[in-house]
Amino acid sequence: MSIPSIPLNSGTAIPQIGLGTWPLDDAQVADTIVAAAEAGYRHIDTATRYGNEAGVGDGVRRTGIPREQFFITTKLDGTFQGSDRALDGMREALDRMRLDAVDLLLIHWPLPQRDEYVSTWRTFEKIRDSGLARAIGVSNFKVAHLERLAAETGTVPAVNQVELSPATTRPAQREYHAAHGIVTEAYSPLGGRSGVREFLAHPVITSLAERLGRTPAQVVLRWHVQQGVVAIPKSSDPARLAQNLDVFSFDLSDDDMASLATLSRGPDAGGDSDHIGH
Ligand code: A2P
Repeated sequence: MSIPSIPLNSGTAIPQIGLGTWPLDDAQVADTIVAAAEAGYRHIDTATRYGNEAGVGDGVRRTGIPREQFFITTKLDGTFQGSDRALDGMREALDRMRLDAVDLLLIHWPLPQRDEYVSTWRTFEKIRDSGLARAIGVSNFKVAHLERLAAETGTVPAVNQVELSPATTRPAQREYHAAHGIVTEAYSPLGGRSGVREFLAHPVITSLAERLGRTPAQVVLRWHVQQGVVAIPKSSDPARLAQNLDVFSFDLSDDDMASLATLSRGPDAGGDSDHIGH
């Protein structure tokens, strides 16, 4: 199966479906990556905070597929904000993964109360220039945080990874991303925080799935990819891994999208990164 990629402002490109890896441990993530690669995944998302970077590197090597064919993302949490600490954070993460570089490095949370994300971003520019990360981006940044980066630094993030699903649609945020060439990446794409099982059992989703001959998760992931969003569903189950990737051969109509729009719990119903993060 060939997975479409979306160009990044770095000149590289990101596969539109990736494997989320929280909360897998090293051993679980390595096994899951082997199964995922067999299903066709080439995009893996981790974070220093997840504690499984070593397993990500092991899993990628165990597939026997050349490293260059994978797109690997990690994120640095607040421990590594300010005073060029991200340089050490990046080197330590690469040591754990036993890789020379990542494809994408993200600031995990803005933590605006600490007021260090602008200086951290300048360190990220150095990390990119040194070749340790092929692209740099952010996660959980609100429009105000992105505007500050734009005003005070010279690099637009390649990606902003945010909680996004038909329950949490963030239209203003996505509009800002589109206007500035920032790719929107969705974590908890299956409705995570509110409970995946309950969300996927919603009659709006199950009735669409039945009519289209697809699973509820495929309907939700199609909602993402059809709008140009990158999604990183986590699964350890081989059958679910495969179905989550198989979302490029059917369409949701305008009416289907309108039905899914009724599931929104408010434009920014997820967590508020002015107040949470680590
Ligand atoms: P499992 O790992 O047993 O497949 P999210 O990435 O949105 O946070 O969702 C992750 C959760 O969704 C996990 O509990 C995962 O369970 C479940 N999940 C992943 N894919 C599917 C699917 N296709 N159908 C149902 N549940 C899924």
